[in-house]
Amino acid sequence: MRAARVRPTSPEGTPYSSPGNVAPSSAIEVHDDIAKPQISKPSELLIQVKASTVYKDNLEWNELYPPKHATLGNDFSGIVAAVHESERNFRVGDHVYGMTHAGRGGTWAEYAIVTTEEAVRKPDSLSWEEAAAIPGSALTADQALFKHVGLDSTAVNGQKRILITGAAGGIGTFLVQFAALSGHHVVAASSSNQRNESFLRSLGAHDVVEYRDFSTLDKADVVVDSVGAQVLADCWRVIKPEGTLLSFDACSWGFREEHRKKGLNQGKENVRALYMIAEPSEESMARISDHVTRGNIRGRVSRVVSLNEVREAYKSAHYRGTGHGKIVVLI
Ligand SMILES: NC(=O)c1ccc[n+]([C@@H]2O[C@H](COP(=O)([O-])OP(=O)(O)OC[C@H]3O[C@@H](n4cnc5c(N)ncnc54)[C@H](OP(=O)(O)O)[C@@H]3O)[C@@H](O)[C@H]2O)c1
Repeated sequence: MRAARVRPTSPEGTPYSSPGNVAPSSAIEVHDDIAKPQISKPSELLIQVKASTVYKDNLEWNELYPPKHATLGNDFSGIVAAVHESERNFRVGDHVYGMTHAGRGGTWAEYAIVTTEEAVRKPDSLSWEEAAAIPGSALTADQALFKHVGLDSTAVNGQKRILITGAAGGIGTFLVQFAALSGHHVVAASSSNQRNESFLRSLGAHDVVEYRDFSTLDKADVVVDSVGAQVLADCWRVIKPEGTLLSFDACSWGFREEHRKKGLNQGKENVRALYMIAEPSEESMARISDHVTRGNIRGRVSRVVSLNEVREAYKSAHYRGTGHGKIVVLI
């Protein structure tokens, strides 16, 4: 079977799992001779993968580097190809979509093992490409707002002022929509109003700002950051002293300690600063599928590539393009 994997060590033999030694995109390799995975537990499904996606900074995810080669890819849409004999909820032939656990990947491949917790039935209205573009990004946004920040997922008249950075990005798009659907006041930040303003307003953003406007903004109850680096550092200026500041940017997992050492949180010691990693969740996926079927959200595809093109596609995910949506890998 065909699959795209990351080499576990550098050409000099240094494991990429060692601190600060992130694999370059040249460590992504496509192989034709990978053994088709087999179901070994009742909780597993074999999926014939139709589509997956590309994540910026994916090679920064430490969970990726087990001792052996890891097959990349977490989002999937596809057809159930085999189930355990004890399986009652899924049948061979079901059309499903979802996200595998960050540490397991596996979906840049013709076949992947996913767990029954990671898959839900694909709404008929979504193409394979549109379906793959949703789970990981929407799950991260859902869990950021409703699990980690702790907002009420059933609210429709929320009262918070919520600033979202990278608002026009893969996850930011869902953050803006979920926060706006819950009735909160959404301030959507990006590096360019010219490129993103009408798009962000169409998603429900109330205010659209650039990062350089931060010093003039009213303070926010909640800031959700998907960009990291200087943008995340600048978020301390915008958060209320008792607010919640959350990042999931792949390179920002140590930001609380780092920012404390630099004194960026001065006068904001009571801010709840959080870093999160999204997890597969039937509960989140049920909410997401409900939004899809109501027409509240859809899968946005900026470009479709083949498995042969994933190395280049991964590189290109690190350049700001003109379109909005995910790079989808059609298997
Ligand atoms: N912790 C978790 O569970 C989890 C899960 C999934 C993804 N992630 C991570 O979350 C981050 C955001 O993911 P995403 O899929 O939303 O990313 P994305 O759409 O590719 O990018 C998010 C935003 O980053 C900004 N950006 C900053 N520097 C950029 C550059 N050099 N090239 C392109 N964009 C740049 C862009 O906004 P502006 O142009 O406005 O700056 C862009 O909209 C990534 O680091 C990803 O690995 C974490």
